[in-house]
Amino acid sequence: MGFSFFLVFVATFLLFIFLVSLYSLKLFFFDTKTTTSTGGKVPPGSLGWPIIGEGIAFYRAGKNGAPESFFFERIKKYSSNTFKTSLIGESITVLCGAAGNEFIFANERKLVTIWLPPSIKKILNSNPNQHQKSPSSGSAAGEDETKMYRKFSNHLVKLVNVGLIDTIARKHFEENWENQKEVTVYPLVKNYTFCLACWLILSIDDRTRVEELSKLFGIVMAGLMSVPINLPGTKFRRAIKAAKIVRKDLVTLIRQRKMELSTTSSFTMEKKPLNKQDLLTQMILSGEDGEDNVMSETDIADKILGLLLGGHEPPTVVITCIMKHLAEHPEVYNEVLKEQTDVIKSKAPGELLNSDDIQKMKYSWNVACESMRLATSSSGAFRQALSDFTYEGYHVAKGSKIYWSSLSTHKNPEYFPEPEKFKPSRFEGDGPAPFTYIPFGGGPRMCPGREYAKLEILVFIHHAVIKYRWEKLLSGDDKLIFNPLPLPVQGLPIRLHPHPTKK
Ligand SMILES: *[C@@H]1O[C@H](CO)[C@@H](O)[C@H](O)[C@H]1NC(C)=O
Repeated sequence: MGFSFFLVFVATFLLFIFLVSLYSLKLFFFDTKTTTSTGGKVPPGSLGWPIIGEGIAFYRAGKNGAPESFFFERIKKYSSNTFKTSLIGESITVLCGAAGNEFIFANERKLVTIWLPPSIKKILNSNPNQHQKSPSSGSAAGEDETKMYRKFSNHLVKLVNVGLIDTIARKHFEENWENQKEVTVYPLVKNYTFCLACWLILSIDDRTRVEELSKLFGIVMAGLMSVPINLPGTKFRRAIKAAKIVRKDLVTLIRQRKMELSTTSSFTMEKKPLNKQDLLTQMILSGEDGEDNVMSETDIADKILGLLLGGHEPPTVVITCIMKHLAEHPEVYNEVLKEQTDVIKSKAPGELLNSDDIQKMKYSWNVACESMRLATSSSGAFRQALSDFTYEGYHVAKGSKIYWSSLSTHKNPEYFPEPEKFKPSRFEGDGPAPFTYIPFGGGPRMCPGREYAKLEILVFIHHAVIKYRWEKLLSGDDKLIFNPLPLPVQGLPIRLHPHPTKK
């Protein structure tokens, strides 16, 4: 144990030295220019330290609960909404402000395309190298991707079924909240969102199976947020392993499902034997309508893995933050309670929620929107330049990595006066200016799960508010940190006060 630990230490150290030297060379030879061969200006900015770049400043800003300060400090220092930095071992051009967001969304797959850091790819993709799309193959691959993406969004929209979500939410509250005096919100919400995702995506509701999957996803998530060093014992290595196990499970499940589907006479959704009208079935079937290239089993497994992860982590964070804000703002809570009580009044006892009810939850949704503004669960994303282009007078070379961040607008007083204040009224009337409020991204790559997220958030809030008032058990201590997802440090323990039952 002691010796192997020592070996790991030495190996890490050597790797570090090696990378530092490589990177210093790279910086020395390639990153010292301020103008390019074509004469365009390079965006201002500092690449910080070798390898880690400005990563520590970025990390520290998040730890302090103000990740936006990383962006605002640099915008101010360089008097520019576009700047250069270095994160995760890459030189990155950061585009800030509404104009930056608009530019990215409008040029999706024209000038820019999605880029995933290699470490994330290593965990999430079966063939991290094969899927690496070089910028040159961009437009053709981009076309395909657009189609896939649209198809995918359509599948997700079909999944959205308020009654079904309500059924699962009711069961969740019965099992996990009833007769409790104190609960910790974050793990409970995760239980809800994960069970929901497993059911809607895979039709799995077997307790032990869901629990096992949930554990594996916990490991994957921890790895995604760790330092990507692939050595024995690291969170990163464990995450790669856990993701592999999940993918293997999924491939087995896909084969099983294909068998089940092929035993029916026709491929229509109505005639399926087990009524598994979930996303998995839709993805398998969509490969067989002749329109698309058939997705391989590993492709489907990769997509489902990503969906399970994206389908439960971000909504968990959002719901937890809403619960926090409702505890902190009784006047807002009262408004939400009033709205949700009105919804109940129009229904028969025990009747499930439907989409008309969701339409009535306008104020509650504003509260959710304001929570997402303050603690966006996906604060930004990477892109890669498909060709050379000029933006705001700066030259961006083909292949460059680009980052956009919703934080640069969500927390900007120019767009949201007193940005630190929790004010759901910002979303009344016309709401925020275009491209300033982008919790789901925008353009063709806008989050395909946004409708689903809206329903699962509102249905949860409906039940929580109808049943309880609550107060935080920790006052100042439970601040939000961004690591990189915003979370109360202690998971938000609360004391529940059930509403007195009227009879
Ligand atoms: C969710 O909660 C139920 C009831 O407490 C529990 O049996 C189940 O294991 C939990 N599932 C997960 C994934 O945490």
